[in-house]
Amino acid sequence: MIVLLLLLFCYLLYSLILYSELPVKLYSKNKEGEIGKLVWQKYNCNSCHQLYGLGGYLGPDLTNVYSSRSKEYIKSFLMNGTATMPKFNINEYEINSLIQYFRSIDNSGKSDPRIFRIKTDGTIE
Ligand code: HEC
Repeated sequence: MIVLLLLLFCYLLYSLILYSELPVKLYSKNKEGEIGKLVWQKYNCNSCHQLYGLGGYLGPDLTNVYSSRSKEYIKSFLMNGTATMPKFNINEYEINSLIQYFRSIDNSGKSDPRIFRIKTDGTIE
């Protein structure tokens, strides 16, 4: 009986430690970001780009594009295109919403597995 109680205690303590450290709480919802998600779907950016590693593989993963590139950089890609990325007939409002969407995605974590560090309890940092 004592052993069972001890196991239960350890289980609860471990769960508490594990779940109190989840990065999910960093995810901030914002209205413009939600519209940005619709813009992302409208132009089917996912056919060539990935978020969290999921999507098409013609273009790069954009999960952390908000912190690794400037807003002007993202904007110029959308307005001018490149040899391999099409130029979109997209307005200023849609671009800003997309950038807000990228911001909320970026806040939710890192997509590149090479930069993760495995902690002693098996979770990643
Ligand atoms: C037909 C495929 C295709 C579609 C659709 C597409 N892209 Fe791209 N995108 C690319 C390719 C390929 C690159 C890399 C181009 C290069 O470096 O010349 C790229 C690059 C980018 C970059 C620069 C990334 C970096 O870190 O350098 C951003 C930002 C971007 N795309 C955003 C978008 C958004 C937002 C959409 C939807 C509105 C979109 N793309 C739709 C193919 C696509």
